[in-house]
Amino acid sequence: MDGMMRAAAPVRQGGGFGLFLKRWARNPLQMGSVVPSSPALGRRIARLSRWDEGRCVVELGAGTGAVSRALLAAGLPPERLVVVEIVPEMAEHLRESLPGVRVITGDAFALPELLPPGMRVGTVICGIPLVLLPLERQRAFTRAVEAVAPGLGFLLYTYCITSPLPWRALGLEAKREAWTPLNLPPASVWRYRPG
Ligand SMILES: C[S@@+](CC[C@H](N)C(=O)[O-])C[C@H]1O[C@@H](n2cnc3c(N)ncnc32)[C@H](O)[C@@H]1O
Repeated sequence: MDGMMRAAAPVRQGGGFGLFLKRWARNPLQMGSVVPSSPALGRRIARLSRWDEGRCVVELGAGTGAVSRALLAAGLPPERLVVVEIVPEMAEHLRESLPGVRVITGDAFALPELLPPGMRVGTVICGIPLVLLPLERQRAFTRAVEAVAPGLGFLLYTYCITSPLPWRALGLEAKREAWTPLNLPPASVWRYRPG
């Protein structure tokens, strides 16, 4: 685990299955999944995240907070977790179920305008279904991340068997860091960094 460990406070279960399903029915391309991520996937993402030296973890597309809760359970202090969610109803759910976490209702593509200036980022985690977007939008996403976390890149979880991003065309390096069959469907975690 790269992140700074400490005794983790008990994390409230957030539920939100009904809300997730409702949003998927309304906008499947924006949701990218019918059900929230499993705790097993969340634990793998937490293991790959770092928040040492006072840094924050920025989670984009937090949904109903499945990955957020895994990060908190792994010891990330709530005040060092920043989650961005574009759907106001889901952001409200996150605010209610994740006390102490900074919840930003907004578009991850506008990340540099959403984060407080000078915030030190340890890891950016992306839950947004980038694979469904055209190359230009994927490029815009990588630029937004680079502006707030220079050189760090981001973690992306996916159900794709191969890389969900055309990393060479995006000028990135790519590494599949983890895989779990204990997710519906089985999922991988990729790390992308500027090449
Ligand atoms: C696959 S779900 C992941 C939810 C949650 N992180 C999980 O693992 O269960 C994708 C989430 O990204 C959000 N989303 C999609 N586009 C977004 C954007 N441009 N900015 C912020 N959130 C976005 C969706 O509303 C949805 O909650």
